[in-house]
Amino acid sequence: MSSEKTNQSWGGRFSEPVDAFVARFTASVDFDKRLYRHDILGSQAHARMLTQAGVLSEAERDAIVAGLDEIRGEIEAGTFEWRVDLEDVHMNIEARLTERLGVVGKKLHTGRSRNDQVATDIRLWLRDEIDAILVELNRLQEGLLQLAETEADTIMPGFTHLQTAQPVTFGHHLLAWFEMLSRDHERLVDCRKRVNRMPLGSAALAGTTYPIQRQVTCELLGFEAIGGNSLDGVSDRDFAIEFCAAASLAMMHLSRCSEELVLWTSAQFQFIDLPDRFCTGSSIMPQKKNPDVPELVRGKTGRVFGALTGLLTLMKGQPLAYNKDNQEDKEPLFDAADTLRDSLRAFADMVPAIKPRREIMREAARRGFSTATDLADYLVRKGLPFRDCHEIVGHAVKYGVDSGKDLAEMSLDELRRFSDQIEQDVFAVLTLEGSVNARDHIGGTAPAQVRAAVQRGRALLAQR
Ligand code: ARG
Repeated sequence: MSSEKTNQSWGGRFSEPVDAFVARFTASVDFDKRLYRHDILGSQAHARMLTQAGVLSEAERDAIVAGLDEIRGEIEAGTFEWRVDLEDVHMNIEARLTERLGVVGKKLHTGRSRNDQVATDIRLWLRDEIDAILVELNRLQEGLLQLAETEADTIMPGFTHLQTAQPVTFGHHLLAWFEMLSRDHERLVDCRKRVNRMPLGSAALAGTTYPIQRQVTCELLGFEAIGGNSLDGVSDRDFAIEFCAAASLAMMHLSRCSEELVLWTSAQFQFIDLPDRFCTGSSIMPQKKNPDVPELVRGKTGRVFGALTGLLTLMKGQPLAYNKDNQEDKEPLFDAADTLRDSLRAFADMVPAIKPRREIMREAARRGFSTATDLADYLVRKGLPFRDCHEIVGHAVKYGVDSGKDLAEMSLDELRRFSDQIEQDVFAVLTLEGSVNARDHIGGTAPAQVRAAVQRGRALLAQR
């Protein structure tokens, strides 16, 4: 048997080399090389800890730490040769370290396994990724607050069932998006706590016989806590699933916002304009300007839901502890994080560039009998029971549909045909401004409330 032909890290007990296709099939380096920075950080912390534990000398530690720094440099310079026969990022880096340092390089893996190594790497990577995602999320929320403030008085139709319901302010609508995203922020921050627990030291599954000092690596790597059970540490990927669940909710929200942007930019609504830089044209229809960015965000949402379902399914049948199945955790996780981050970035860039067409929004609110509830509430204030008022206004709306008049366009005589309680002061409540101003409580659509909510939003962002 030639040991060169089998994997140099674990080939000892093998009597024939792995089949070439199986080697490619089982390799993960093509996608897990992306973890190189975190793999190196984890290894450097491990080497430092081994020195404190008396397992490595200071000179060995220094050689390993410096060697790993140089390897990071090679990777970033594009001169590092990634080898599929070395299976994954961990063994590629370790093999190169050994190539550079000889025997000392081979000592790095003392008291450690790729099982706790990979679990550590993904957590370190995901922690950074969450932080980058939170930056984009914050930027988007700032943009929403800014636009909501500018548009606090802008009136548009509010919808239920996508039918005109009651007038709302555009600022209020944007602040609904802000609220959704605030919960996404909370979820990601909360998820980060559970991501930030350290599996390193679990070794293959049972812990290690070396006198490792897990609190040392924990501190060096900035973990909040040490995982309390080695079997669990190498095995569970619930933190990745939890991230994908939070990411799915955030994408679901972005997808709903996208759907509204697509509707609003259509010729049928024309509520807003998106600058050309967020749109593309059609190769056949010269008049077209398509809202590609929101459409793509809406479309990409499915990938993140897919990642969540994939990871849940990946985990559900696994006995303790590590199984090779877990190698399949990376691609969906990477893709979910990339998709969320890019989508947030696109939205954060796009939102401040939204140009509302205020006259068209206002006209749409005026046309759809959107103040019908205000008329009913007016009659309630005159002493009628709400159900009777509902019916009276229903008749008035029917007359309006037949005669082509909105409620505010009818004369007092016309309105009084439906109830003699209606008087001249009704016209104040039938205006769009009267309608939105009347909803003047926390969470209501009145411009004054929108401005107050913007201030609360700013205070929230300032606390983060
Ligand atoms: N590439 C592997 C993964 O991503 C690393 C851990 C492999 N461990 C093992 N015992 N084969 O999960």
